[in-house]
Amino acid sequence: MSKFLYGIDFGTTNSALSIYDEEKKEIIDTISIPSLIYFTEVKSIIDGENHIVGEKAIEAYLSDGMKGRFIKSIKQILSRTTFTETRIHNKRYTASDLVTLILKDLKEKADKIIGEDCQKAIIGRPVFFDDDNTMKDTLAQTRLKKAAESAGFTEVRFQFEPIGAAFAYEKTIKKKERVLVADLGGGTTDFTYLILDPEKVGSKDRKNDMIASGGIYIGGDSLDSAFMWDKGTPYFGKNTMYEATPGKVLNVPKSLFANICTWDKMNFFNGLKIQKEIEEYYYYSKNDPKFKNLITLIENNLGYSLFRSIEKTKIELSDQPVSTFDYHNMEIEINEDISLDQYNAIIEKDINRIDTYLDQFMETYKINPQDIDCLFLTGGTSMVAAVQTLFKNKFPHIPLNSGDNFKSVAKGLAYSGYLFED
Ligand SMILES: Nc1ncnc2c1ncn2[C@@H]1O[C@H](COP(=O)(O)OP(=O)(O)OP(=O)(O)O)[C@@H](O)[C@H]1O
Ligand SMILES: [Mg+2]
Repeated sequence: MSKFLYGIDFGTTNSALSIYDEEKKEIIDTISIPSLIYFTEVKSIIDGENHIVGEKAIEAYLSDGMKGRFIKSIKQILSRTTFTETRIHNKRYTASDLVTLILKDLKEKADKIIGEDCQKAIIGRPVFFDDDNTMKDTLAQTRLKKAAESAGFTEVRFQFEPIGAAFAYEKTIKKKERVLVADLGGGTTDFTYLILDPEKVGSKDRKNDMIASGGIYIGGDSLDSAFMWDKGTPYFGKNTMYEATPGKVLNVPKSLFANICTWDKMNFFNGLKIQKEIEEYYYYSKNDPKFKNLITLIENNLGYSLFRSIEKTKIELSDQPVSTFDYHNMEIEINEDISLDQYNAIIEKDINRIDTYLDQFMETYKINPQDIDCLFLTGGTSMVAAVQTLFKNKFPHIPLNSGDNFKSVAKGLAYSGYLFED
C-alpha cells in the first residue's frame, strides 16, 4: 500500500495539491495550478488532444487569438442544477467531467514526483457551495466526488476548506489557541472557529475542537463583477441612449449589462436573438462606439482578457493607493485611474455582506470576541485592503496572522489523514 496521501484544494481560481508522506508524517511537496481549461478550436492533428489545463491554458488561449472554449471558475457550476452538460467538439462534458480534467492534471504531476499512482485523497470543500441550500450542496459534493473517482482516486474523504487552513496554521503554533479562520477565495468566503493545539496535530478525534463553521458565496470573482458593473460596462454601452421609436430616446436596459459582469453569463450573448438586439441598439444609437465595443467584446470572445485587466487593477490596489484600469484591444480603449477610495466604494456592498454574515455567525454560535486568541486569514481575497480593514476594525485587540494564501488549505487537508480512520 502506498505511504502517500494527497490533500487537494480544488479552488475557484487556483487549485493546489499537497503530497503527504504518512510514514514520515510530513508534507514533501505542494504544487498548484490555475483552475483553467482551454479547449482549442481545432483538435491537434498529432495526438487528438484538444484541451490544455492550468497556466499553459492561458498561453495557448491567448496565442490562438482567444478562439476555442476557455473555461474558468468551474467550481461555481458544481452547484448549478441548471447546468447539466456542455458540448465541446461534439463531445458532451458534465460538470464532473470538467473538474476531472483539473484533478487529473494535479494527480499526474504529483504521481510523477512520488513515482507511483496515489489513489488516496482528502479533498476540500467550501462550507457551503452555494447559498445555504442543502440540495444544491449535496449535488456539488456528489459531482466533486465523481470527478475525483474519474481522476483515479479510489479513497476519497472531504474536509471543510477553512478547517484545512486552520490545520496548516496549527503546524506553526507553540501553544493551544482558540482561532477564528477566514478563507477568502475567488468564489467563497469561509469561516471556522476552533481550538488548535500543536500537541493534537494529526490526532484522530478533533470533533470536540471544532466549534463552528460557516460561509458565504462572495469572493474575488464577486469583487471583479462589481468592478465590471461600475467601471467596465459604461465602456460597453451602459448609460448610453438609443432612439427606440422616432423622437423617443431611451436608456438601454441595464439588465443587458449584468450579463457581461460574470464570466459564465457571458455565454448568454452567444444567442442569435441577443446579438441581433445589440446590433439594433448600435444602429439606433447612431452607431455609438460603445456598442461597437460591446459587439467587439462578444464577437471576439474578449471576456477573459478584460477580466484579467480588472483583476490586475484589484491586485495593485492591495498595496498601492492608486492604479489604472487599462485595457486596449482592437478598437476598445480603456485607460482610467482608479483610487483605492473609489475601489472601496465599488466593493462596499460585498464587504458589508461579509461583515454582516460574520456578525450573524458570531451571534449564532455565541462566539465572544474576547475569547478569540488569534485570527488567521488566508486566500487571495484576504489581501484586499478593505478586507484587512474589516478584520482590524472588528477585532482590534486580536492578533492577525496569515500563511501562504494559496497553499495553506491544501497543506491542512493533507494533515487531515485522521478522516480515513473512522
Ligand atoms: N494580491 C491580491 N489582492 C487581492 N486579490 C487577490 C490578490 N491575489 C489574488 N487575488 C484574488 O484572490 C482570488 C483567488 O484566491 P484563492 O486562490 O485563494 O481562491 P480559490 O481557492 O481558487 O477560491 P475558492 O476558495 O473560493 O474556491 C482571485 O479572485 C484573485 O483575483
Ligand atoms: Mg480557496
